[in-house]
Formats: sequence, C-alpha cells, structure tokens
Amino acid sequence: MIEYKSSRQLEAMDRANRIVRKILAELAERVAPGVTTEDLDRYAEQRLKEEGARPAFKGYRLPGCTDYPAVLCTSVNEEVVHGIPSPKRVLREGDIVSLDFGAVLEGLYGDAAVTVPVGNVSGEARDLILAAKESLRLAISQLRPGNRISDISEAVQSYVESQGYSVVRDFVGHGIGRNLHEDPQVPNYVASGMRDPVLREGMVLAIEPMIAAGSPEVEIDSSDGWTVRTRDRSLAAHWELSVAVLATGPWILGGAAEEAAG
Ligand code: MF3
Ligand code: CO
Repeated sequence: MIEYKSSRQLEAMDRANRIVRKILAELAERVAPGVTTEDLDRYAEQRLKEEGARPAFKGYRLPGCTDYPAVLCTSVNEEVVHGIPSPKRVLREGDIVSLDFGAVLEGLYGDAAVTVPVGNVSGEARDLILAAKESLRLAISQLRPGNRISDISEAVQSYVESQGYSVVRDFVGHGIGRNLHEDPQVPNYVASGMRDPVLREGMVLAIEPMIAAGSPEVEIDSSDGWTVRTRDRSLAAHWELSVAVLATGPWILGGAAEEAAG
C-alpha cells in the first residue's frame, strides 16, 4: 500500500533529508587516501547526534540479513551497496566509494547516497560515477502526477545502457516516509509483468540507480551477509535522493541535486 504524505510530513522529510545531505557532503570532503571507512561511520554518527536525529540503518533488518551494524554504508570499487564500515578498510588513491546514509527525524526518514573518488581516479571510474549521477537526474525529471514508475526506470536504464554500462537488478529504489522502505518499489530497469503504479501527488520515492561497468550480476558476501559486489568485480557506482511528487513536478528533499556532493 502506498502512503501519500501531507504537506506537513513533506516539510519534516525535507528537514530529515537536509541533515542527511549536509552530513554526506561533509563526509565526501573527508574522503581521502588513508581514511578508513570506519572513520567515516564514526563521523556520521557523531554529527547525527549533534543534529538531533537518529540513524536510519543501524539495527535495520533486510529479509534474510542480520541487523545492520553501522550508520553508514560504504561500498568501495566493485562493492555496489551495503558495504559495512571497518577499521581495516583503508581508502586508497584511485578507489571510488559510495556513501549511503539515512536519518530519522520526527518519525520520518531521509535517505541519500553519493559516489565519490578517492584522490585521483581513472577516467573510467570518473565516467562511471558521472553516468550514475546523470541517470538519477534524468529519473527525477520524470516525476510528475500521471507518469508511472516505469518512466523513472526507463529513464535510468536507457541512459545507463546507452553509455555502455549495466543496471543492477537485484536491488531497487523504494517509497520512503514513516518507514525506510515503503511501497512502491522503484526498479532501475523495465521488465514486462511488473507492477507499474501511477505517480500521484504526495508520493515520496528514494530513487537509487546502482550501475556497473561490466555485467549486472551481483552476489552478497557470505561472511558478513550484507556487502553486495559485482560478480565480475567490475566497478560500480550508486547515487540516491529522496524526491516528492508535487503537482508542479519533483521536489528534491533536502535541497537541489546540484548541492549534492561529488
Ligand atoms: N539506502 C539503502 C536502502 O535504501 C540503505 C539500506 S542499508 C540498511 O536500501 F541497512 F538499512 F538496510
Ligand atoms: Co534507499
């Protein structure tokens, strides 16, 4: 069931996402060779406290997974999503890292992600990051009442594939509000037989293209039960914004996309 948000709820979600986006921008600035992914997690947790918000991911349970142990997901290179921060994971020059972060404020969720380079990265890595970011922008431009979820999916898939990359299918974007994950699902690809709800005013969608330089097949780390990697170990990139559907078009919660780091 899709929950439509009131304008009061949208205002609160804007505040939640503003905190998420601000801290993500600060994290992106701290990304550098020698920094560990745990350093980033600690920083995020501390800043969240200062902002008076609660982490959205810590203790969260996905079907078949244990409680998520951190406030941030840090997914490096071939890791697509749900990388667990660790003091052993030292960022190196040339890596790319997806920072995925969520917060709860006044009972409402914010969720966003960026992918950032660590120092100087290859042209291939830079192009992949930019293609994922552009696919998110194109997806958001489809948000208006009367369009369908598949218009979002199609915008991501057609652009990403036109650039020679592939779209990960095993994970999807989602509705968001009083829960981190709500209906509807927001796939980054189109397939026949999928439910395809019409977009209506008051819907809020966390749109999150996950793309790979090689094949779209992914696998979950068998020892931590969370980290998602490309099977062929090709580079992956991931961006996410929470966006409301208004009569006038998309409202990117927490500030314009240009203000996103990376
Ligand atoms: N942004 C991710 C998502 O929407 C983060 C989930 S991590 C989890 O699925 F731990 F909360 F599951
Ligand atoms: Co999300």
